[in-house]
Amino acid sequence: TALTGTIPVVVHVIYSNANENISDAQIQSQIAVLNEDFRKLNSDVSKTPAAFAGLAADAGLQFVLAKRDPNGNATTGIERKSSTKTTWGTADAMKSTSTGGLNAWPATQYLNLWVCNIGGGILGYAQFPGGAASTDGVVIGPNYFGRTGYLSAPFNLGRTATHEVGHWLNLRHIWGDANCGSDLVSDTPTQQADNAGCPSFPHRTCGNTTNGDMFMNYMDYTDDACMYMFSTGQSTRMNALFASGGSRASL
Ligand code: ARG
Ligand code: ZN
Ligand code: CA
Repeated sequence: TALTGTIPVVVHVIYSNANENISDAQIQSQIAVLNEDFRKLNSDVSKTPAAFAGLAADAGLQFVLAKRDPNGNATTGIERKSSTKTTWGTADAMKSTSTGGLNAWPATQYLNLWVCNIGGGILGYAQFPGGAASTDGVVIGPNYFGRTGYLSAPFNLGRTATHEVGHWLNLRHIWGDANCGSDLVSDTPTQQADNAGCPSFPHRTCGNTTNGDMFMNYMDYTDDACMYMFSTGQSTRMNALFASGGSRASL
């Protein structure tokens, strides 16, 4: 694949202590991870088992911190806000100034990333395409964002954002969120459930007695060090959003 698009990103950091007010360097490290993972430039893609290596895809997408804000003024692409709230949950309160957070920038022009402590052991969550513009984007805990700085292993390599941006680009979990469910992508093998940790190849489920699960896919639940590919079918599904009439064509 060639480069298909460059997506402007705004990072909204909402913090209740100095650790959560992550550094610019930590934010830049996350952008670097996205730029590797969505162009198959990540060095660990070489770990892909031979049975799946031919399916590891360059999704053709790049990410850049916004240089212009919605008013056309120069910006770093990073906004910061101090808050007394220590956990934010998953009901989108961080996405509005009226509930103590920071408003989304227009979803037609930016990928919105909120960095705040979600709580409940949740690393991140995303809104699929087609939802309300005011809540469009991805939320990630500060200690799971990027690969340098304030981080919690084994989720310290920036893959939570890769996974969540995959959802934002219409990808489902690879097990289809059901027992041997479907992710609507044909080249990812049907698998029974999510995988955790760092499985060894092959892990066979759902009657797939040849190669088994593609547990090293970004849309599984394995550790950051053990997920390193999108498939060709996933790349096609993501890129369809940018075609004429697609729900992210304006980007
Ligand atoms: N939505 C998932 C969660 O919060 C994200 C999983 C990301 N996985 C990872 N290895 N970073 O649990
Ligand atoms: Zn997910
Ligand atoms: Ca599949």
